[in-house]
Amino acid sequence: MSQKRVSIFSFLLHSFLYVSLASAAVTPTFKDYFFRFTHSNPPREVLTYQRLRGNFTNTPGVTPAPHNPQDHFNRISLYNAEPEPHGPLYVVPTNPHPPPVPGYYGLSARAGIPDAWQLIYTYRLEEEQSFGFRYEDWRLKRSKCKPTLKIWYGPEQDVEDGWRWYAVKGVSPMTGFEQWTAWWVKLSDANEGAFADTEIVPVGLELVEAGPVNSNAPGGVEE
Ligand SMILES: *[C@@H]1O[C@H](CO)[C@@H](O)[C@H](O)[C@H]1NC(C)=O
Repeated sequence: MSQKRVSIFSFLLHSFLYVSLASAAVTPTFKDYFFRFTHSNPPREVLTYQRLRGNFTNTPGVTPAPHNPQDHFNRISLYNAEPEPHGPLYVVPTNPHPPPVPGYYGLSARAGIPDAWQLIYTYRLEEEQSFGFRYEDWRLKRSKCKPTLKIWYGPEQDVEDGWRWYAVKGVSPMTGFEQWTAWWVKLSDANEGAFADTEIVPVGLELVEAGPVNSNAPGGVEE
């Protein structure tokens, strides 16, 4: 190639890269979010518009104040495609030394309650899958006026069939603290009475855009 051709080629390549990068800056490929309960019915102050934190468990949930500043919100990375984001919900560790494999948020059937799945995350995909872990069919819809995404699991038909989010009060086996975790449930004859010993509250769940990671800040984010 002559000198001139090389420089034209290089000019074209750089123009191409510049345009691709510029458009990438407008629509970033991945974006970070947090889980957040919206309304509950009846309204519960402990839940309303609270973001879900780890409390050093693999079950994202809401714990009562006062919070430990080390207790970070569960951070999610999501493929931010047009017209709707989609794909698995990847775990973004806010503490150092994440395992060298991706972590996923998904639904666990480990509790053994029919028609009831608990939101958890795992870095041990194969092990969880042997307990029926589901993580690939998250559905997301942008809100028209807020930087939030509506989130549900599986076909839209399921929502019409009565599947919805509940906050279930429990005690973390790892920390002994009260924790309200998120469950995807269809109340049915099969699971009647399964939550009789605890409180189960219908809630909204959404993903809300997250600021940059700062592991030293409360909740892992500047607020
Ligand atoms: C778990 O949550 C409780 C209640 O907010 C808090 O007091 C406790 O410090 C948290 N534990 C950890 C290990 O973050």
